[in-house]
Amino acid sequence: MENFTYYNPTKLIFGRDQLEQLKNELPRYGNKVLLVYGGGSIKRSGLYDKVLSVLKEMGSEVSELAGVEPNPRLTTVRKGVDICKTEGIEVILAVGGGSVIDCTKAIAAGAKYDGDAWDIVTKKHMPEAALPFGTVLTLAATGSEMNDGSVITNWETQEKYGWGSPLTFPKFSILDPVNTFTVPKDHTVYGIVDMMSHVFEQYFHRAKNTPLQDRMCESVLKTVMEAAPKLIEDLENYELRETILYNGTIALNGMLQMGAPGDWASHNIEHAVSAVYDIPHAGGLAILFPNWMKHNLNTDVSRFKQLAVRVFDVDPEGKTDEETALEGISRLRDFWSSLGAPTRLADYNINEENIDLMADKAMINGEFGRFNPLKKQDVVDILQASL
Ligand code: NZQ
Ligand code: ZN
Repeated sequence: MENFTYYNPTKLIFGRDQLEQLKNELPRYGNKVLLVYGGGSIKRSGLYDKVLSVLKEMGSEVSELAGVEPNPRLTTVRKGVDICKTEGIEVILAVGGGSVIDCTKAIAAGAKYDGDAWDIVTKKHMPEAALPFGTVLTLAATGSEMNDGSVITNWETQEKYGWGSPLTFPKFSILDPVNTFTVPKDHTVYGIVDMMSHVFEQYFHRAKNTPLQDRMCESVLKTVMEAAPKLIEDLENYELRETILYNGTIALNGMLQMGAPGDWASHNIEHAVSAVYDIPHAGGLAILFPNWMKHNLNTDVSRFKQLAVRVFDVDPEGKTDEETALEGISRLRDFWSSLGAPTRLADYNINEENIDLMADKAMINGEFGRFNPLKKQDVVDILQASL
């Protein structure tokens, strides 16, 4: 293992009927609240009314920022920062999926900075302070509810970057599986692909002696793969939603990569793709990740073989390590396809036209990926293989 320090201050409040906990958590940070949410799913599900009624009971002074986009945009972050500064907001409450929470993180840091929030996203400015915020999660996918990461898109320049700061962990996150019942099938599948991809990013590392890290990753993958096919046929099943919700948080709250920093190249390439084409994050991952795996097979075939045997139940008898590994990757592709995830960039009408542009965007900070640092030609090859 590599030396590590683990820090995660988010209070996780998990289970049925936990919204009332807002009354214990929110007032610690202030009374002037900015409520941030997306394009309307929380109004349709009734969650918006429930949250407002709890805020009203607490006597909170509420301002609102509605309409956070999937792949949240800098323009919306700027709107939120303006509201915080002009209204003297003390605490932010994000109610939604990863996009709403990521946008909230950028607003929280931007509200305490005199310059433009884009400086924070592009890491030109390291936040020195941030407004406190809590979340009510409505979609299992990103892990943003219990990590410090945020991904923001600048649509004018077609750039999408991830950033994070120890100041942007949520103070608390309320996770009630019932609030994810209304997530439609396609976004349920994207969430499943996203959380599995987070595990893969962390499974492929170069640290030695990581038996527990490996087994924890494999357990999350196995558990998700067991629940996912049942869930997409039974979207309001509490226990299946509960399992997926908990896995999504564990997959990206830092626990799996203690002592073994992950690769994260596939996410970087996907962010470049969705910066140009605005496709769902996990739709891109479903297409790219198996191709990243094939491209990197010979970096350390033993890890791909271990994954194939332990997670995808490939029988290695009579096969070379490479054959076993490739069968595992092909079972992953089949599994995601069986859920209805996309398999090719063509599924989003993406052709070779902008491959060079996407590769350049992915390369903005030079070579990337800890498992096997990628050069531009590697990225082009992975994108070509994904067409
Ligand atoms: O906007 P609304 O109306 O709320 O609708 C959303 C949106 O259209 C809908 N939705 C959410 N909860 C729902 C629901 N619909 C019905 N019922 C509910 N309960 O689902 C759609 C997608 O929501 P979004 O928040 O965009 O999805 P997700 O949670 O997958 O977040 C994706 C964003 O997170 C970033 C991605 O790049 C992308 O921008 N990521 C953030 C990470 C992090 N902070 O750690 C890591 C990830 O790897 C990822 O990059
Ligand atoms: Zn992701």
